[in-house]
Amino acid sequence: MTSPRRTFAIISHPDAGKTTLTEKLLLKGGAIHLAGEVKARGQARRARSDWMKIEQQRGISVTSSVMTFERDGITFNLLDTPGHEDFSEDTYRTLTAVDSAIMVIDAARGIEAQTRKLFEVCRLRSVPIITFINKVDREGLSPFELLDEVADKLALDVTPMMWPIGMGGTYQGLHVMGDATDALPDAVQEEVELAGAGYPEFDVEAYRNGDLTPVFFGSALREYGVDQLIEAIAAFAPPPHALPAEPAPVAPDYPDVTGFVFKVQANMDPNHRDRIAFMRLVSGTFKRGMKLTPTGHGKPIAVHSPILFFAQQREVADEAFPGDIIGIPNHGTLRVGDTLAEKPGVRFTGLPNFAPEILRRVALKDPTKTKQLRKALDDLSEEGVIQVFYPEIGSNWIIGVVGQLQLDVLLSRLDAEYKVAAGLEPSPYDTARWVGGDAGEVKTFMDQNKGAMAKDRDGNPVFLAKSAWEVNYIAERYPAVKFAATRER
Ligand code: G4P
Repeated sequence: MTSPRRTFAIISHPDAGKTTLTEKLLLKGGAIHLAGEVKARGQARRARSDWMKIEQQRGISVTSSVMTFERDGITFNLLDTPGHEDFSEDTYRTLTAVDSAIMVIDAARGIEAQTRKLFEVCRLRSVPIITFINKVDREGLSPFELLDEVADKLALDVTPMMWPIGMGGTYQGLHVMGDATDALPDAVQEEVELAGAGYPEFDVEAYRNGDLTPVFFGSALREYGVDQLIEAIAAFAPPPHALPAEPAPVAPDYPDVTGFVFKVQANMDPNHRDRIAFMRLVSGTFKRGMKLTPTGHGKPIAVHSPILFFAQQREVADEAFPGDIIGIPNHGTLRVGDTLAEKPGVRFTGLPNFAPEILRRVALKDPTKTKQLRKALDDLSEEGVIQVFYPEIGSNWIIGVVGQLQLDVLLSRLDAEYKVAAGLEPSPYDTARWVGGDAGEVKTFMDQNKGAMAKDRDGNPVFLAKSAWEVNYIAERYPAVKFAATRER
């Protein structure tokens, strides 16, 4: 018998307390014994605005990408989402691999920009959310203000599950909603009664559909409310369920092993060009040595040394179950979005490439390094750090990103890992669209617009547009051609 799985992520704005909460969850699950280990990473992250230093400490960042701990017979898989403010594709993709999320909010700040963006990503995929309002040991907004803010800004029903008995200097503990209130101070008793009447009752179905969020109050730092939060994840958060795929959704009890790659991390060891592909197991019982076939390309690969991620140490896995993440070492055959299956024929859908919002021309400082640059751009696009477009005409390679931070990461990694000195120059393009649809029309379109055509890393045709207006204009002129802002793999 396998233990039930809860595969989840924490979403928050920087400084709300994600690192502290992660550490406390791991401590309570017995996964780490030294307080401060996860924390050290959070501090490093803030201390060095230079995020590349963290990229260089890849050993650390990989073990903490997936953290597994067990408690009360349940296996929790916590997937880390990068904490910087810039929106990253990596974060989005990680959220495709979880069954639920914890949203951490700073009680003094309410909903902040990054919380909101990440929430929108969760909503796109109906990922259910438990809210943890952190730092009640400090003065903050009132519980009512916080609940209303979540409800209004995120258009979500809220159910307070706990109520803080005072906050900051007056904090005296947490009250479980629904318990007798006679022992509470009068003012709090009144609040609790008002709240009990004013917010909808908890409804697990509404939560699992992503329409309602149960709200917990607490302090990660002081460990207030953390046990209740873990219990709530265990009790309410959905176990692994069916995921969208072709030809049909795949449920965990599907007999074959299937999964998809949501993240690839390259160059973890600068001396070896190795990679770890992170696969979310969707169905079947994975056993070490099993052969899995990447759908659509490639031969079956035998997974002899899969990695399971227990915090602070990478363990070699013998078995893994739906909801688990395994790391598959490979030499670049596996890409983000790939489906892996015991028997070919299944393909998971819904892992998009984003329409790049910033396009830049790569300028090589040493022209003899063209080959290295091409290799680096291919690698980094495969990892999802950037998207790369090779124009049909000319040799001005274009890279596309959705956030500025990705550009910084690109330059730093080109330099550090590939010894390629490059700069970025403005490009005449503003956005890109993947081209598809009626084959004859596509050919006509491409012939007539050769100067704006490029290929992505996988050879798919991409139209480079000077503006969103141009995209619309062209789309009207070629109605049988489809211009997609994202490319689902
Ligand atoms: P992040 O990963 O979301 O960016 O946040 P992190 O956990 O690093 O926490 C950000 C800051 O908030 C840290 O303070 C942390 O100690 C503090 N913090 C987290 N949870 C609580 C809480 O429940 N109550 C209070 N009062 N503070 C909390 P810092 O000053 O940046 O670091 P440090 O010097 O305290 O270590």
